[in-house]
Amino acid sequence: MKIAVIGAGYVGLVSGACLADFGHEVRCIDRDLRRVEGLRAGRMPIYEPGLAELTADNVAAGRLSFEHDLAVGMKDAEVIFIAVGTPSRPEDGHADLTFVYQVTREIAQNLEGYAVIVTKSTVPVGTSDEVERLVRSLRPDVEFSVASNPEFLREGAAIGDFKIPDRIVVGVEDERAREVMAAVYRPLFLNQAPLLFTDRRTSELTKYAANAFLATKITFINEIADICEKTGANVQDVARGMGLDKRIGPKFLHAGPGFGGSCFPKDVRALIKTGQDYDVPSRIVEAVADVNERRKRRMGRRIVAACGGEIRDRIIAVLGLTFKPRTDDMRDAPSIAIIQTLRDAGGVVHAFDPAGMEHAREVMGDVTYFQDPYQAVAGADAVAIVTEWESLRALDLKKIYGLMRTPVLVDLRNIYGPEEAKAAGFTYIAVGRGD
Ligand code: UGA
Repeated sequence: MKIAVIGAGYVGLVSGACLADFGHEVRCIDRDLRRVEGLRAGRMPIYEPGLAELTADNVAAGRLSFEHDLAVGMKDAEVIFIAVGTPSRPEDGHADLTFVYQVTREIAQNLEGYAVIVTKSTVPVGTSDEVERLVRSLRPDVEFSVASNPEFLREGAAIGDFKIPDRIVVGVEDERAREVMAAVYRPLFLNQAPLLFTDRRTSELTKYAANAFLATKITFINEIADICEKTGANVQDVARGMGLDKRIGPKFLHAGPGFGGSCFPKDVRALIKTGQDYDVPSRIVEAVADVNERRKRRMGRRIVAACGGEIRDRIIAVLGLTFKPRTDDMRDAPSIAIIQTLRDAGGVVHAFDPAGMEHAREVMGDVTYFQDPYQAVAGADAVAIVTEWESLRALDLKKIYGLMRTPVLVDLRNIYGPEEAKAAGFTYIAVGRGD
């Protein structure tokens, strides 16, 4: 099939490369010329394991190409995916659909025959209806369908998530679109990935409900962690004991500094807004957003408390800055609020991250960056682990002890244990441990 993907960002690039790998002929279109030129030269604008190789293979096989001109890119396409960004609107937290509608107008102007226009970006309920109305008003002369097909991939594991998904959700309102979308995903269907067809509004809401539920699960275990700390229980064992119940499941029960990233915070905010708009506010989701925001700053204060409550002019080493490992993404990373709290308390922050320091520089001032975790901890009064990168999981604690001025280890991801930290000479503070 001939497929156009508009927006060569995270979702667009991963989807485009994977769809090409299934054998479809895919054109990824982006209005950023430098990005298109870079992609043509084999440079990835994002950090995602395996994406560069997958892209190169499919470009070499003639199935994947990159276009700047939308009209050229969508010519003859049977399916046109809209995969542009839907950031939070600063004024009210709702998803900003400017790019989605801008692209919709351009698609309408260039439609030559029947195509299925698919919203792949995360969009509020009713957006696909609006896309349909807009295209119909601009082009009453052409036949087309609009489908909703939200993406559930995780950064750092995106290719695997796309190729071996738990499910694919497609919202359609007509049989023709259903058949086309079934053909797009036929290769996955053969792997028995459940392909769930719903109406468009259900499909759109499913995405928000899934992300808000996962964010709730994390926030729930984070509150249980607080209770563990006060009552002398161990949150990791509580999570294990809960997670073995198949109705609960073991995933997304890791207590930590709060969730971040480009999706959960934004989607939680947008779902809250939808509930309010329709006069059915979600108390649970509102609480999740509030508890998570407070938690990030509270984790900063926890580090200050670990230093005896006073960190003026003291050096705090922060290891791990990205919102999670295997990404260079700093969007809504808990480290930002944590470091801000440390800076407000007068602390001097030394930081290290395996991939995120370039983006960190753009969002955080007054931080000194180091190319190596051992350099970052030299002379420090406390070290805080904020992101559980693999390379931070097996640090030489004895060596770190020897380099620091005061041996305080605040492990916000529970990747070390009290025994080994104490054996290395540290004062150890973790999350959700009463010991
Ligand atoms: C998330 C969802 O997991 C994807 O299914 C979804 O497609 C994606 O958003 C999206 O909407 O595009 P992602 O933001 O890449 O994916 O990251 P996650 O792996 O879900 O992690 C999100 C945050 O939750 C991170 O800050 C992570 O550290 C935190 N987290 C996760 C915890 O604190 N504890 C956990 O047990 C799990």
